[in-house]
Amino acid sequence: METGNLINDKEAFFISHILIRWYDQNKRDLPWRETKDPYFIWLSEIILQQTRVVQGYDYYMRFTQTFPTVASLANAHEDEVLKLWQGLGYYSRARNLHTAAKMIISDFGGVFPSVYKDILSLKGVGEYTAAAVGSFAFELPHAVVDGNVFRVLSRLFGIDTPIDTTQGKKVFTDLANELLDPEHPGEHNQAIMELGALQCVPVSPNCGICPLSDICLAYSQNKVSAYPVKQGKVKVKERYFNYLDIRIGSSMFLNKRTGNDIWKNLYELPLIETEEKLTLDQLQETEAFRRIFEKAGNISIHPMGMTLKHVLSHRIIYANFYTITITDDVAIQEQFLKIDKANLFNFAISRLVDRYLEHQSEGDLFA
Ligand code: ADE
Repeated sequence: METGNLINDKEAFFISHILIRWYDQNKRDLPWRETKDPYFIWLSEIILQQTRVVQGYDYYMRFTQTFPTVASLANAHEDEVLKLWQGLGYYSRARNLHTAAKMIISDFGGVFPSVYKDILSLKGVGEYTAAAVGSFAFELPHAVVDGNVFRVLSRLFGIDTPIDTTQGKKVFTDLANELLDPEHPGEHNQAIMELGALQCVPVSPNCGICPLSDICLAYSQNKVSAYPVKQGKVKVKERYFNYLDIRIGSSMFLNKRTGNDIWKNLYELPLIETEEKLTLDQLQETEAFRRIFEKAGNISIHPMGMTLKHVLSHRIIYANFYTITITDDVAIQEQFLKIDKANLFNFAISRLVDRYLEHQSEGDLFA
């Protein structure tokens, strides 16, 4: 579907003007809106992907204080970046952030790129982020298209093309760019996203006070809740994790996750992943379990495991945790990192294992 017929230049100018006026009167005061520094703006955008503003705020403050320049971020150890990111989830964002900082030093002489194509070339930067950083920091005329923009535009123009399709992405991107005020791309982009975040909200928006209600097609047809249209849900994959909390004295063992999987480079307890849910007896019969403990002397497994269900965007993880005390840790040390429990806080731990450890430190596990 071509969208060129939905809007002409005069209408676009009119709508953009309303959006920017509304934004000036209603916007939230947020620190990344007070700066034109592309490094700070980029940091905020990476943090705010899949993260609510209230949660992202503290992380933004900590990152900008710990790493006030792109060089300081590039020179940091990845473990330090992951540790600071702990709790935000989607850890590939933190790894990519670090890689991109190094790219800015090596490929762009330490100067944040100001050309759209170059911004887009940074690791972890997609079209949305390139448009956001480009327009907020450099007034580049590229429209942002995020969930808020999908919602505002689908309602305003009554577009029922599903947003989770290639065609939908093209239709809404074209329209967002037609609407963009090339004189004020930064403010325009902030304004349309802010309208989606504060006014044109997903459920029960108060359309009576919306600055665009007079020209909103969905509102005029009393169909606001029908937009945006989605084609279907992504299939959720179920995984079964068996974590081993192996102890000897005041020491415990960690494993650093590698490979192309969730929580890459984060630490967790030694893990046996299985195809299905296993009982403790079944777990002990697996080859993986036997291999870990074959030279561990006497092992004593606390019969009461703990189970946690952990929901991520495309997966549900069913995790069992078992406390296992051993008497000989030479073989275990070859496989896993031995640490004193008191030093746990130095490691970037996956949120799932952190949840288990929190329960434990509250003392309600084996009381
Ligand atoms: N979410 C993503 N980018 C944002 C921004 N610049 N301000 C508020 N929320 C956002």
